[in-house]
Amino acid sequence: MAGDTVSRPFSLWTAPVPIKVAIEQDAVTPFPKPEAPEDEGDHDRDRRLMSSLPAKVYGKRRYLEYQATWWPEAALQGVLAIQRRFRPRPSDVLLASYPKSGTTWMKALVFAIMSRKVYPLRDHPLLRLNPHDCVVQLLGAYATGKEAVVEALPSPRIMASHMPFSTLPASVVDANSGCKIVYVWRDPKDVLVSLWHYYSKLRPEEAHLSEFHDLYESFCRGDTVFGPWWDNVLGYFRASVEMPTRVLFLRYEDMLEDTASNVVAIADFLGCPFSAEEERAGVVDAIVKLCSFEELKNLDTNMSGSNGLLLKLPSSSYFRKGVAGDWMDHMTREMADRIDTIVQAKLQGSDLEIKPAST
Ligand code: A3P
Repeated sequence: MAGDTVSRPFSLWTAPVPIKVAIEQDAVTPFPKPEAPEDEGDHDRDRRLMSSLPAKVYGKRRYLEYQATWWPEAALQGVLAIQRRFRPRPSDVLLASYPKSGTTWMKALVFAIMSRKVYPLRDHPLLRLNPHDCVVQLLGAYATGKEAVVEALPSPRIMASHMPFSTLPASVVDANSGCKIVYVWRDPKDVLVSLWHYYSKLRPEEAHLSEFHDLYESFCRGDTVFGPWWDNVLGYFRASVEMPTRVLFLRYEDMLEDTASNVVAIADFLGCPFSAEEERAGVVDAIVKLCSFEELKNLDTNMSGSNGLLLKLPSSSYFRKGVAGDWMDHMTREMADRIDTIVQAKLQGSDLEIKPAST
């Protein structure tokens, strides 16, 4: 396994390896298997645990409540494996988010920021690979037996996860783990609308959630996938206040408003700041452009094909509108006010505020 890069100057970093490349390579030359392979006892324990959890069935899929979060059953197997066996490295970067909050964008930006010394922007892997083929979804990898590929990825690794902060393995959260977490959150009303488009177009088998009204009610109750939304956001917000050098908390709408400043902030946070020379040469703007919605959406690689480990999704499905405020076309003012009221009550006392619909 490659050594850790945390204490090496950024100019000597190797580039993060796109997960698709690592998986293809694994098919040719098997990576070393993890030292502590899963034993049968773990399987049995997981099965027993999962059969004892509160469950909801949507169409053909079961969702289970574990550690105060609603998980798709298949993803929960990944969660249990991660909690048991994931070993962080000090140079790891974890991109965390509630689904439909800008994960794809974050994957592209952080991958481009961290790899800029190695991959020239005019011939960048992101021009040929969907961001989800560049940055691994941890749950998907651990739930589908690709754990050894993640273990074998050279440092620095970038990984993404929708797991709430409170469910991350202690080894990641530990003050000495060193790994950094970048969290992105978004107006919950737009998250809900984006999630509905996702369910209604791509997951018709979960018929229960394809009606906007049903998904809306589920979101308000807090039992939507990886929910409650407010716990997911609050966990990372609090962690960012307590550990500002470990957890960066970003808002999708702020990033839309001024992407360049956020790109600079992400690079500073990750320990790979832009040099004055890079800024003069326009590297920040080039990364902003490469990862912009319009640019990514219109690349051949993102207009066709599919990707993903646990779920194979059309690459184009990650790029819908990419704007703030789309909820206005989907819900009445009363519906918006109700979500805002619920969310504001949940966030009360935390210093985290959402912009209410009625302002
Ligand atoms: P909409 O459905 O509102 O358009 P995730 O990546 O977490 O699944 O989030 C998907 C949302 O992010 C979608 O929102 C998608 O259009 C938007 N998105 C994807 N790439 C983006 C980019 N480069 N810039 C801004 N938004 C982006």
